[in-house]
Amino acid sequence: MQDDAVRNASNEDAGRRTPAWTRDHAAGIERSEDTVAPIIYPPEAPVDSDLHIWDTWFLRERDNSLAEIDGYRVIFALTSSSELLPGKRHDVATIRYFYSRDGKEWETGGPVFDVDEKGPLGSRQWAGCALYDRGEVFSYYTASGRRGEEELTYTQRLAVGHGGAIETDENGLRIEGPWTHEVLLEPDGEYYETEAQSRGMIYTFRDPWFFEDDGTTYLLFEANTPVSEGSDACGGDPAQQEFNGSVGIAESPTGDPTEFELRAPLLDAVCVNQELERPHVVRRDGRYYLFISSHDHTFAPGLDGYDALYGFVADSLRGEYEPLNGSGLVLTNPSNAPFQAYSWLAFDHGNELLATSFFNYFEFGRPSLDEVAVLPEAEQLRRFGGTLAPTVRLKLDGNHTRIVGTLEHGHLPLPNEKLPEPWWGRGERLPDEGEY
Ligand code: FRU
Repeated sequence: MQDDAVRNASNEDAGRRTPAWTRDHAAGIERSEDTVAPIIYPPEAPVDSDLHIWDTWFLRERDNSLAEIDGYRVIFALTSSSELLPGKRHDVATIRYFYSRDGKEWETGGPVFDVDEKGPLGSRQWAGCALYDRGEVFSYYTASGRRGEEELTYTQRLAVGHGGAIETDENGLRIEGPWTHEVLLEPDGEYYETEAQSRGMIYTFRDPWFFEDDGTTYLLFEANTPVSEGSDACGGDPAQQEFNGSVGIAESPTGDPTEFELRAPLLDAVCVNQELERPHVVRRDGRYYLFISSHDHTFAPGLDGYDALYGFVADSLRGEYEPLNGSGLVLTNPSNAPFQAYSWLAFDHGNELLATSFFNYFEFGRPSLDEVAVLPEAEQLRRFGGTLAPTVRLKLDGNHTRIVGTLEHGHLPLPNEKLPEPWWGRGERLPDEGEY
């Protein structure tokens, strides 16, 4: 397979060729003891039984560390009413915040944005990130669709609401506006595919992720690389060409966290995968670990992957990314519960890496998530976790990772918090094949 070679000249940024997740890499994706998380059981109590909660992110400082406000840490998440059929939640997604003193018990703060004539932008808001800088909250998000649209559209723009302030007292923590909403970036059609250029399943231009590196301010995001019809990418195979996910990056020339310019992608997966979701970087030991989540159904024809966390490593932010563990697979669900978790977020913790995610469908072993729709509605609701999943503990060793343990559902410790001994040999914790 030659697919690592074909690149569009527009993807060159100062002579740099976009590093690729290739079909050869992805052909090596296979579950192993190091990459399969234990089976997840429902928690005693979800974070908030009135809400479905899925993609989650931390309020972070400019140096990427977790913000601590008067002893509270804060997470933001996509949410909807828990009465809604889970498959419909993306159509009404609302960003809410939650806070905790111990990183275990989370209080619901409420919707981040007030809805007024100025915002938030989009007919609903998809994933983003949150920055706390000199007392101001910058809440980045994906503006999906257009405000007030009668029929849902799937236009995606990277946006920010800024001007938020945080107050704490004996009753807890509150984030309040007024917010100023701005569109930050839209696809340019050169580095990043526009909706009109898109040829396959829904295009992507979403999930902004603020990242500061040695004083330079960046925004990473999920996107697609334009592949024109009739091009020789993927050996000229039009079916494979439709799968063209990328990890985009934009830079703020002045450091202003509301002014970004597009740059060439960090990585792409042309002929490999359509959706490189929620990209984020953990800098560690002088290396850059780039993570994305992706789905089993977004791999190109001829490739088999899973709903999983995938990772890549390079010596600089815009360096030559190599897939971790050879194929890129870092963390996935057991084969008998292939959709139990999704949308992972990795963060540094001493000599481990932790990964949070949301508890997705359990007691569901069918090969495709589409088949959830054949379940009676009550079962679709019952089998949807809709809350934070157990945090997974990973050891990193150069280009290799392995799962070494888990924490409770939604346990998000600060970097200096001591954790119990991880379990190393996994024998007794291996997922129970055939349980469902
Ligand atoms: C990942 C994701 C994100 C998107 C959100 C929409 O779970 O697909 O890319 O922002 O879900 O709900």
